Amino acid sequence: MRIPDIIHKKQHKQALTASEIAYFIDGYTAGTVGDDQAAALCMAIWFNGMDNRETADLTMAMARSGDQVDLSGIEGIKVDKHSSGGVADTTTIAVGPLAAACGGLLVKMSGRGLGHSGGTLDKLESIPGYNVHQKMEDFIRIVNTCGVSIIGQTATLAPADKKLYALRDVTSTVDTMPLIASSIMSKKLAAGSDRILLDVKWGNGAFMPTVPQAVELARIMVEIGKHAGKPTRALVTDMNQPLGNAVGNALEVIEAVKILRGEAEGDLKELIITLTVEILVMGEIYDTPEDARVRVVQALHDGSALRKLEQMIELHGGDPAVCNDLSLLPQAGRVVAAVAESSGYIIGMETGSIGLSTVMLGAGRERKDDAVDPAVGLWMKKRIGDYVEKGEPLAEFHINDTRNEQEAIELFLRAVHIGSEKPEKKPLIAEIIG
Ligand code: URA
Ligand code: CA
Repeated sequence: MRIPDIIHKKQHKQALTASEIAYFIDGYTAGTVGDDQAAALCMAIWFNGMDNRETADLTMAMARSGDQVDLSGIEGIKVDKHSSGGVADTTTIAVGPLAAACGGLLVKMSGRGLGHSGGTLDKLESIPGYNVHQKMEDFIRIVNTCGVSIIGQTATLAPADKKLYALRDVTSTVDTMPLIASSIMSKKLAAGSDRILLDVKWGNGAFMPTVPQAVELARIMVEIGKHAGKPTRALVTDMNQPLGNAVGNALEVIEAVKILRGEAEGDLKELIITLTVEILVMGEIYDTPEDARVRVVQALHDGSALRKLEQMIELHGGDPAVCNDLSLLPQAGRVVAAVAESSGYIIGMETGSIGLSTVMLGAGRERKDDAVDPAVGLWMKKRIGDYVEKGEPLAEFHINDTRNEQEAIELFLRAVHIGSEKPEKKPLIAEIIG
């Protein structure tokens, strides 16, 4: 087999065989296939696509390129959850303990923030002592003890994807369905769960700008799960405004705790409940979503979900007292209101820019090795459809480094659109697939 022949085939819109795909991925992982050849093939795929069978073969080849986590030491149906990324999406930190409080098992290797989008690992690290780097035997022990563990991805998980993603990033070949779907699913397949729940975001804060594109990506990933023998379901959900109110690491932990205490309402809580119900039904803890939902809502009000979060934090080396005393989390030195410049209804938000306004303050990274300030970010005071008076706060900014303060607040204010007519509310969940 020769790589130039494989590239030529894809250039001419032909489907690649499983062995051609494996030859490419194995060679690229080992270094016998160069970046030049891999870039040419990615570009050919970008132009000519892949069918579902090719995409599944690519995914499985990447999943096999490194360690495949063995979770057979955990009894029961282990469910993994993945969100395609967004702003104020704190679901994982609440869904894990909530599912565990209801008898489910959530095993999750999370990522860090990327661009305007937050990352669960950065959020968890704002909890004093929480260690996201756990040995595999400790990961298994923690899940066996409390039903949930959320840790960082090991360095040896799907190395082909790590290399390929970095290459795609610099060759403008990130944004194509087969490469996105195989990238996400290769890591999920290698991470060893029995079933996979996906939350595919659509909108101006997401990878996929429209519902049809998000639905297509979701369908491809569900199909890959089927090929690999891992039942997969996907929700397609709205990311045209921050999901919750908090944007920033410690602030998002605060919001997750408030939801688990039963103290907060809104879209974030609704999505947390829906995702948890899905996990419990996929994990065969409950037969119907209706039965699962009754228990999930109860767990938010009887303290059991909050106790599960405390236990999860403690088992990862963190200080569980943060759940009862939120002031133990890092706090910013300065709180400044960003106020409306006119009166009217909030008709839209540029969600990506809202995320970036917090990145400018240090909540995320502009370069890969930047340090993150866990305390900073913003707390939204309004949502799309709300009426605001001129001068009324739209958000509260939490700031330490004041150098970018003005610029960040200006970016935020430009991102919130005010008009005279109340807009129609978009459904939080556009579609469920699988
Ligand atoms: N997330 C990933 O992990 N990979 C992609 O290609 C896109 C988003
Ligand atoms: Ca996120």
